[in-house]
Amino acid sequence: MSSFWSAWIIVLTLPVLIGCALLLRWNLKNYVGVAEDQNTGHVIDGIEEINNPLPRWWTYMFVLTLVWSVFYLAAYPGLGNWQGFLGWTSSNQGIKSLEESRLAVEENRADGKMVELDREMLRAEEVYGPVFQQFAKRDVLDLAYDDAAIKIGQRLFLQNCALCHGSDARGQHGFPNLTDNDWLYGGSPDKIKETLLYGRKAAMPGWFDAMGEQGIKEMTAYVLSLSGRTVNDRDAAAGKVKFALCAACHGADGKGSLAHNLPFGAPNLTDNIWLYGSSAGAVTETLTKGRNGQMPAFKQTLGEDKVHILTAYVYRLANPDKAEQQ
Ligand code: HEC
Ligand code: HEC
Repeated sequence: MSSFWSAWIIVLTLPVLIGCALLLRWNLKNYVGVAEDQNTGHVIDGIEEINNPLPRWWTYMFVLTLVWSVFYLAAYPGLGNWQGFLGWTSSNQGIKSLEESRLAVEENRADGKMVELDREMLRAEEVYGPVFQQFAKRDVLDLAYDDAAIKIGQRLFLQNCALCHGSDARGQHGFPNLTDNDWLYGGSPDKIKETLLYGRKAAMPGWFDAMGEQGIKEMTAYVLSLSGRTVNDRDAAAGKVKFALCAACHGADGKGSLAHNLPFGAPNLTDNIWLYGSSAGAVTETLTKGRNGQMPAFKQTLGEDKVHILTAYVYRLANPDKAEQQ
């Protein structure tokens, strides 16, 4: 028990207990000078006040609760260095830090012993493993419209992906919307699966050193003009000249790497869909500092069967209608 919690108990719990005991004692005494059940002589709006004692059962409950709390404090650790007469210890007692706890787990595993987490994972694997395996044998396009699979996919998504992509998968600043069928790396089952298994790391360089402030301003105008935004035409024209620097990844037309069968994950700059925000300020920041969005790999942490189901789930998000698929 840390000294903080011990102090908590001593400062808060003990005075409250003592206070309750005193309150009870005070209430059990007859201060009114009138026998129990007798009229006190007070009349308010025609209602007479009787000296009613506390109900017996209530008093007994109160006393029992107090006795129980005293027993509890004596039985378990909490009061300073007192360890409790039951000799109870918490499962992580003696382990001082997370690092030590991790080492203890590894030591146990090295000895061939399982820790509780392993046992739980094994139990879960026994129950759900066969279900996942069954799904893993089926085609993604088929699973994507199987409600049972999608239900499991949704649960896996909420547990593993919602933190970044949002529980509705619509993304947020820096994390792509997965429901809009606008892809960085491709929306075919194979491409989605590749993204989930191995992760993705985007490398958009910063251009401040190469272009300076004026150059960035011009390029920002050109990039915004690609999405049909109203910009300073002179700036945009000057930016356009330098866009050759960007063409290797975004394509000369700015339609993104996917449109040119390139693997870089460089977004389409002409569709007015923005990963990092649509304002001139956001685009300027992207161009100045660069961006390195990173999608973690799930091959190790989730395993291929679960990734297969998640692939179907993501596919379904972007293609809610079965008829839309070719
Ligand atoms: C730590 C945050 C994080 C988590 C957790 C995460 N992602 Fe991502 N994901 C990203 C980022 C960032 C990108 C964009 C990478 C980039 O900028 O190129 C991305 C990209 C993707 C893409 C590619 C989108 C495209 O347009 O091609 C898919 C699909 C995807 N994530 C699905 C998932 C799924 C499914 C999970 C859960 C198993 C998941 N992500 C968990 C951060 C995350
Ligand atoms: C090496 C490849 C590469 C080059 C060269 C490159 N980009 Fe990018 N760009 C990317 C990638 C990858 C992303 C996505 C970054 C992410 O997902 O974190 C990106 C993102 C962007 C974005 C953000 C889009 C959004 O939706 O928020 C803009 C704007 C942009 N690039 C403009 C440019 C311009 C202008 C140039 C040339 C001056 C350029 N890029 C050069 C790879 C590149």
